[in-house]
Amino acid sequence: MVNVLFVCLGNICRSPTAHGVFREYVRNSCLEDVVIIDSAGTGDWHIGKSPDERATSAAKSKGYDLSDLRARQVTPEDFKNFDYILAMDESNLKNLRRMSPPNFSGELKLFLDFHPDKFIKEVPDPYYGENDGFVTVLTLIETASAELLKQIKNNYKLM
Ligand code: 4NP
Repeated sequence: MVNVLFVCLGNICRSPTAHGVFREYVRNSCLEDVVIIDSAGTGDWHIGKSPDERATSAAKSKGYDLSDLRARQVTPEDFKNFDYILAMDESNLKNLRRMSPPNFSGELKLFLDFHPDKFIKEVPDPYYGENDGFVTVLTLIETASAELLKQIKNNYKLM
């Protein structure tokens, strides 16, 4: 099994979008029993809430269903349970590094390290912006998800 956790600040915009998109890619490769996916926030403001409506509708317009997802906060157990912990931006990565135990053996990095454009590092926080921010988020996430799945398939010899 390969366990992948996507992390943003509130777990209502970026990381649930990544969760929903990557889950669809994994399903399309028939790997849903092998690649386990979750998402969480470093903040606690939105625990238990559904994803932001703007994230849900941007995702829905491209065929991704986020309706079953609920926000939760990152926990110390996540460092035991996940092989990949992927942060949406540098600030979340910094907070995760602070929480990470010395014996964490997985990969803790920026999700967009998997984006082929090496100049693109962060998924911008769309929360206080316009709707087109959610489209940008979705496009970045789709591109990085394809590459992440490719690398996981290679690393774990999955086809
Ligand atoms: P997310 O976006 O980290 O992509 O879920 C945000 C959601 C909520 C807030 C900030 C960012 N907030 O300040 O409540």
